[in-house]
Amino acid sequence: MQARLILNPAFALASVDPRLYGGFAEHLGRCIYGGLYEPGHPAADDMGFRTDVLALLRELQMPTIRYPGGNFVSGYRWEDGIGPQAARPRRLETAWKSTESNHFGTDEFCEWCRRLGTEPMLAVNLGTRGPEDAANLVEYCNHPGGTAWSDRRRANGWERPHGVKLWCLGNEMDGPWQIGHKTADEYGRIACEAAKLMKWVDPSIQLVACGSSGRGMSTFGAWEATILDHTFDHVEYVSIHTYFGNQDGDTANFLAKPDLMSAFIEEVVACCDYVSAKRRSPKRIMLSFDEWNVWYHSHGDRERRHIKDWDVAPPILEDVYTMEDALVAGGMLISLINHADRVRIACLAQIVNVIAAVMTEDRGPSWRQTIYWPLLHASTCGRGTVLRSLVESSTYSCREVRQAPHLSAATVLDPQTGTLTVFAVNRHLTEACDLTAELQGLGRFQAVDWTVLRDDDLKAANSAAHPDRVVPRPEAGATLAAGRLTAALPPASWNVLRLTP
Ligand code: AHR
Repeated sequence: MQARLILNPAFALASVDPRLYGGFAEHLGRCIYGGLYEPGHPAADDMGFRTDVLALLRELQMPTIRYPGGNFVSGYRWEDGIGPQAARPRRLETAWKSTESNHFGTDEFCEWCRRLGTEPMLAVNLGTRGPEDAANLVEYCNHPGGTAWSDRRRANGWERPHGVKLWCLGNEMDGPWQIGHKTADEYGRIACEAAKLMKWVDPSIQLVACGSSGRGMSTFGAWEATILDHTFDHVEYVSIHTYFGNQDGDTANFLAKPDLMSAFIEEVVACCDYVSAKRRSPKRIMLSFDEWNVWYHSHGDRERRHIKDWDVAPPILEDVYTMEDALVAGGMLISLINHADRVRIACLAQIVNVIAAVMTEDRGPSWRQTIYWPLLHASTCGRGTVLRSLVESSTYSCREVRQAPHLSAATVLDPQTGTLTVFAVNRHLTEACDLTAELQGLGRFQAVDWTVLRDDDLKAANSAAHPDRVVPRPEAGATLAAGRLTAALPPASWNVLRLTP
């Protein structure tokens, strides 16, 4: 199979916002407790943060991490998670039917972010609570001092404000499963009032309104238009969430699903621009793709593994990711990069144990899942200017996508170093893809570095016993000649081709 890629700096799409490579940590299962926080673990630091987990996440260079939910936030009283740990209440956590100790809260998370080298992105509860509690949390986090909430933070040991710049106005409020689910008008009103109050407390913050929780929601489209009618003047972003799975074992169809993510993005952009158009406004609402991933392996685990309601940190949503999942995660990253003009923030959901890039055992080791690798490559090599990738490739038809190109690709030019990076997934399951990339107006490149993630077994996965079963490897055989890059991308592979001047 052959494919052609035409690359020209005149076709620049946008500069990548580094926050495209963010993550998400929720009070859910073992993400916090036993994941990023485990006092008594041999690798725990003075605050109980697992330094082995910090080290693995640090490599990903995630610029922002969303917290504390997710569905969890819609029943959360943030005040439960501050102050002396022994005095914090244990609560029934109804989103995931667990018991929440509240030993980890906002201060611990902001400190954990500092130690990781990332920025917190906090969500407020608009399920059971409202504008006042949301504004109080902004005051607690961001006000320097001399007021009740800011002085509570200082008394709790954080003299300097946490300086949280990015805030989500609730989570998936369109979903009937959400605590405090609302109609679009109900949500639009409360989000607008919360936004006003939060920005009056700290005008420097940026806000994300809840978009649809999935493209399949019956309210999708109308939801975005209605909630933005209410919140347009007060928010910068609308959220968008997508999870894919291979429940029916149709791998060709599964690999094509990132194309549905692209369609979803373009539809949400259309909804946002419809609201701008109605107002004759030059303002453009940007997208925060603050939950994306593969999620299906753990469906039904609660019953299968006899996990009881109200357990503390139960092992739920612990998907073990395979080689083919990494190809889909890579495809989703390609879709995000190719929409970098409107998607400014994205968060892999999630980072530790719960549908996560990193896994841990309680009191034991931590390791990288297969999906870790494409995110690492995109985050470390995918910063700069996105070039629209003109792809000529054979296509295939599958159940959910009519004409899926076998080659999916995105290209980023680093203006500082002149390095050009091509990310490519060969979605053909049996044939190599003979790729020719025509490098127009890009000057001369001296060298090409090629990294491939592939495995003969598409169901291969990493584990505590075999943490390096699926890892990327350098590949030889990519050539540069007469302004052309050529390489034979193996079947079912994730590829990173780096051209240096
Ligand atoms: O990431 C897991 C869950 O998926 C989140 O809590 C929720 O927002 C979404 O439905």
